[in-house]
Amino acid sequence: MRTVYVNGKYLPENEATVSVFDRGFLFADAVYEVTAVFDGRLVDFHGHMTRLRRSLSELQMELPASDAEILAIHRELVRVNNVTEGIVYTQVSRGSADRDFLFPDVGLTSTVVLFTQHKNLIDNPTGRRGLHVITVPDQRWRRCDIKTVQLLYSSLAKTRAKQQGADDVWMVLDGFVTEGSSNNAYIVNQDGTIVTRELSNDILHGITRHAVVRCARNLQMPLAERPFTVDEARSAREAFSTSATGLVSPVTSIDGVTIGDGKPGPVATRLRDIYLESSRANAI
Ligand code: PDD
Repeated sequence: MRTVYVNGKYLPENEATVSVFDRGFLFADAVYEVTAVFDGRLVDFHGHMTRLRRSLSELQMELPASDAEILAIHRELVRVNNVTEGIVYTQVSRGSADRDFLFPDVGLTSTVVLFTQHKNLIDNPTGRRGLHVITVPDQRWRRCDIKTVQLLYSSLAKTRAKQQGADDVWMVLDGFVTEGSSNNAYIVNQDGTIVTRELSNDILHGITRHAVVRCARNLQMPLAERPFTVDEARSAREAFSTSATGLVSPVTSIDGVTIGDGKPGPVATRLRDIYLESSRANAI
């Protein structure tokens, strides 16, 4: 049975519980991170910690633990659960208190939960075949830069996409693509330029995005950080998405329109290989 970390304790998953009054449960008053594990090691742990601390501070929340302590918990869970490939999930909520819209001003201890999941991230069929996405309006709150557990819209949208035979959604705000349900979105336009929306409150500042943009710049691939429209995406040479779990995932159709020749394109394939190689080499 899997071991889960809850508030200082390592427990069998069936004994790992939090209060029904937890504000994460009642108000989605919690933030999270998903860190990939390759070869039993953590990919970009420090990037995830930096983003977690930023999410917490934007919401006036505290994490009563140092990065070194959180790293030690990650490593212990990876070890006891024998994770060679998969993820570590970290969630911090404001804590539990009587239900009230106001943040309680004193005496709250944040709830800290970490667990692991085994997952084939590298040899994943969609990485080879490519994803079919459909576009939907972006109806999330407008602080998508904060990684909160408020994921219902994205979860509903992805489920509807599956019910319609697609794999995922790309969300659209004022005619421009923001991002996928749980990934950042890119196209390669007819000039061969990689285009991805610039960082703002409208998208999550992906850790994988940061690494992939760096790889592309190092390889002197043309890249523009700007919004792109759905029409531009449908007529692109290539499309792809990035996330800790999807790595670089080619997108081969958008709203039923085939992108390029319908197969994963050379830019996405190359970036996937290079990202995989560098993140494996740098994992800790
Ligand atoms: N999601 N955009 C959104 C809305 C996301 O939820 C995610 C990550 C990303 C990519 O971020 P990163 O490269 O740091 O994983 C972009 C994680 C994987 C999840 O919710 O499972």
